[in-house]
Amino acid sequence: MTTAPARHLVEWGPTDLAARVDEALAVYVAAMGYPPSTARHRRSLWLDHVRRPGWRCVARLDDADRLLGVAYGYTGAPGQWWYEEVARGLRARPADRALLGDYFELTELHVRPDAQGAGLGEALLRALLAGVGSRHVLLSTPEHDGRPVNRAWTLYRRTGFTDLLRRHRFSGDTRPFAVLGRELPLPPAAPPAPPR
Ligand SMILES: CC(C)(COP(=O)(O)OP(=O)(O)OC[C@H]1O[C@@H](n2cnc3c(N)ncnc32)[C@H](O)[C@@H]1OP(=O)(O)O)[C@@H](O)C(=O)NCCC(=O)NCCS
Repeated sequence: MTTAPARHLVEWGPTDLAARVDEALAVYVAAMGYPPSTARHRRSLWLDHVRRPGWRCVARLDDADRLLGVAYGYTGAPGQWWYEEVARGLRARPADRALLGDYFELTELHVRPDAQGAGLGEALLRALLAGVGSRHVLLSTPEHDGRPVNRAWTLYRRTGFTDLLRRHRFSGDTRPFAVLGRELPLPPAAPPAPPR
């Protein structure tokens, strides 16, 4: 296991993402295994998101300034599509619904497939959330079909995310999703296991 160096972990502002949005979308499409046409639909959405309150973005670059991973999110608020979809799922659970009063939505987190498995995802997640003032972080991720769970689930469980909704159906998507969340801030990362 190699230790992920932190030196190429950078915070991106709106103009940084705009300048490299196609590269970021290429990482997204490759990481998620989506058809390349998905990037076209997402492009305007990602560029629109930069204007939302609390928007933050972090990127991981390699020595040649190529993008290895990207993560962004923003403050959740009524009227946003994702907020309303999750609120619908929680309508019979007022206590849980109260979480929606103060949360950061982790909207995207992706690492290029050939760079996965070395801790970059966790480094991006921690860097992104370190600058967030909300009480909670929430995210949605495709449901898994049992074991072995994928890297996204392993990462979220390892960093303390618990279930808010399971097998939730977002409008316009036939796939079931989980909505996971946890309080902020994240506790420090556990030290790496000693070599055996
Ligand atoms: C989910 C995703 C972002 C996780 O990123 P990642 O870099 O692959 O995963 P992690 O940060 O969890 O690191 C993976 C491994 O590095 C290890 N690791 C964690 N921190 C580390 C560190 N500081 N140094 C070295 N290794 C580390 C982990 O133990 C883990 O080991 P394992 O996978 O062999 O069990 C990435 O796999 C991805 O883009 N997946 C596809 C897209 C996706 O599902 N995105 C989320 C949608 S909601």
